[in-house]
Amino acid sequence: MHLIICESQAAQAKACAAIIAAQVLQKPSSVLGLATGDTPKAIYRELIALRQGGVLDFSQVRSFNLDEYVGLAPTHPQSYCFFMWEQFFASMGMRPEQVRVPSGIAADLEAECQQYEKDIAAAGGIDLQLLGLGHDGHIAFNEPGESFEKCTHVAALTEQTIQANSRNFGPDETVPQTALSMGIGSIMRARRIVLSAYGKAKAEIVAKAFLGPVTPWVPASILQFHPDCTIVLDAEAASAL
Ligand code: F6R
Repeated sequence: MHLIICESQAAQAKACAAIIAAQVLQKPSSVLGLATGDTPKAIYRELIALRQGGVLDFSQVRSFNLDEYVGLAPTHPQSYCFFMWEQFFASMGMRPEQVRVPSGIAADLEAECQQYEKDIAAAGGIDLQLLGLGHDGHIAFNEPGESFEKCTHVAALTEQTIQANSRNFGPDETVPQTALSMGIGSIMRARRIVLSAYGKAKAEIVAKAFLGPVTPWVPASILQFHPDCTIVLDAEAASAL
């Protein structure tokens, strides 16, 4: 595991973006694993700025997102597909055929999970996977206690995660309780992993995940065993290390 600690959140986002940019500059047809949530927003803004500055070209990149809520159509403003187009894909000039987000409205969710794994394999596997970190140690929607071997699956979200996600939904909207999620098995197959975390609220779980024992009760702890994983933190997120 490599550890990068940056002074500020802005520097932390720049550092993550630089790793992704370097990957795509070295291999323009890279297959990226991408995340949603608050964590990647600033990273995506940095990558968009690099593209606007003429430094970065994503026209040959393929991408696979970690997860999607069950029951939300890609056009739903809270769906992860919508988030990705709004925050990143459109500004990067990406075309629909370059990107894949699991379909939370597939008639057969199990078949969609299997197809997702096949699509990743057909693209040659993930070169670089970007991850955020949940307050309970989840990565994608692999909640504490989930098996380390699982591939893409239908995941039941914990009360804590549903609560955390509810900030993005209106008071009258139902927050989804299940999602399609890449499994720890799918994530660990990525050739490189970059986990990004910032802010005081993540300090305790960062210390638990990366200094504590490897256990399914802290899903991110498995990253200690990945051969090429870089943890990029700001000073606050690193404050309990
Ligand atoms: C998002 C995802 C989640 C988030 C995690 C942290 O695609 O898979 O695991 O990375 O919940 O969320 P934020 O970044 O909002 O703190």
